[in-house]
Amino acid sequence: MNHVTAGFDNASLRPSRSGRLLSPSAAKAEWWRGAVIYQVYPRSFADGNGDGIGDLPGLLDRLGHIADLGADALWISPFQRSPQEDYGYDVSDYCDVDPLFGTLADFDRVLARAHRLGLRVLMDQVWSHSSNRHPWFQESRASRHNPKADWYVWADPSPDGTAPTNWLSVFGGPAWSWEPRRRQYYLHHFLGSQPAFNLHNEEVVEALLQTGRFWLDRGVDGFRLDAVDWMCHDPDLRDNPATHRPGQPIPAKPFGMQLHQHDLLHPRTLEVIARIRGLQDEYPGTATLAEISSQDGAFDRLRRYTAPGMFDMAYTLRFMKGNLTHETVASTLHWMTEHQEGWPCWSFSNHDVERVASRWSPIGGRPGQPGPEFLRLLMAMLLTMRGSVCLYQGEELGLPEAELRQEDLRDPFGIAFWPDYKGRDGSRTPMPWRQDAPNLGFSGATPWLPMPEAHRPLAAEAQRRDPASTLNAWRHFLRFRRNHPALVHGALTQVAAPEPLICFRRQSAEESLLCVFNLGQAPQELDLPSDMPAKPLWRSNAGLRHRRVRLDACGALICREER
Ligand code: BGC
Repeated sequence: MNHVTAGFDNASLRPSRSGRLLSPSAAKAEWWRGAVIYQVYPRSFADGNGDGIGDLPGLLDRLGHIADLGADALWISPFQRSPQEDYGYDVSDYCDVDPLFGTLADFDRVLARAHRLGLRVLMDQVWSHSSNRHPWFQESRASRHNPKADWYVWADPSPDGTAPTNWLSVFGGPAWSWEPRRRQYYLHHFLGSQPAFNLHNEEVVEALLQTGRFWLDRGVDGFRLDAVDWMCHDPDLRDNPATHRPGQPIPAKPFGMQLHQHDLLHPRTLEVIARIRGLQDEYPGTATLAEISSQDGAFDRLRRYTAPGMFDMAYTLRFMKGNLTHETVASTLHWMTEHQEGWPCWSFSNHDVERVASRWSPIGGRPGQPGPEFLRLLMAMLLTMRGSVCLYQGEELGLPEAELRQEDLRDPFGIAFWPDYKGRDGSRTPMPWRQDAPNLGFSGATPWLPMPEAHRPLAAEAQRRDPASTLNAWRHFLRFRRNHPALVHGALTQVAAPEPLICFRRQSAEESLLCVFNLGQAPQELDLPSDMPAKPLWRSNAGLRHRRVRLDACGALICREER
């Protein structure tokens, strides 16, 4: 396998104080800047023990796929001990591996092999809430006077016995549940079994950081921080204002009927982020990636939360909701041009949203199974914007969303809102590895979610053999990107282009690249914006003659401006 990861030269690896193997320069390098991070949802990646659920031994066997693709790092969704009510995002022991996924020794093996393959490993840390089975919550809920009484958010009922505020849970219903032993309510932004931590309490922050040290000492390369906007609430417990006007249609999810001014986004969040940064600084060479919600002001938070002294990278769900529109892309590029400070991480798909191959279609086109040129367009756009990138398992195969029956659903969010909202299982079905194997090579047993027949022809092994496959397009593009510093860390400037065209420059000390995309299905032409000669470096359904770019349906062109 011809795969080299910059700054991670195996020949000069040495054990760090934490046992991690680092090249002398790697500890200092900002390896995460412009990195491509492959998200593994471990339940659905590969099953090593044949119980129908993916696990760490399965991941160990398939790490080669991620390295061969050309990713720089992986982010593994939670595998810590958990009752799995929100599939791992409800942790009951932050310092152990859930037996469903294996053991700590299995994790150490994954980490060691990933490092040998030149891959960094980011772990998911769910620090805005725990499971109600966590011993900290068990203690906290037992009385109003115990050492952990103030570790979660507790409040007396209103005089009429109802919840203390009008705050709502994302997964439906009030954000408060009653605890008879304390005669009080506790706050939960998601399921009732996911009580919110009181991160205004320094002791809680310190206890969580201590669990982080446990993994950093084992050698992980950093963390993805879950639900950062939900970390801190308004301690004055003020009601949220309504956004819904009488007469407007009532949405399926009432969470959208409020302005989330007081339940989330409290300025204390910045102090918590700075404390997490302090932890990270104890382990040079590690990185942090924050999840920011799509609530108003997401881009502004992205900039502030990745300022010096804060997280390294952050992503918002901005590109993960709704249709593909020229406005969405153009306004994001405008923002990027105006704000070169801060470091975004872009993604089009993850375990929380419908897969992009089904969610988006070319402008003016009909939704359905996307053509290969549309998948290449999305890939090229994602990988040329300024920032790092998260790609979600199966995105490199062009997997469409799985259509599931109501009785197949496992996600509590989807179960509660069916059929208006079908939940997240459609993007969480297991990876198709082999076309001709039982359960497409994912497991010897019936998988925990059904695997759609539509995924069979897209199995990884079949795509590897086909030079024109989506998988090979990703492999080639990631190598191409790695060789162009302007794409990895260069500045971005938007170039005005009429709908449905998108155009921008990426510039570094070494080179200036012009990227042009046709988001629509009709052929388009565009004259290059400057007199500089341009040399096409990568193209899909596009060509350049003299100074005129021609882009057929979903065409994409990257050319170098020869100064
Ligand atoms: C995770 C979700 C999870 C939620 C509650 C997130 O944003 O990505 O999968 O359900 O946090 O933990």
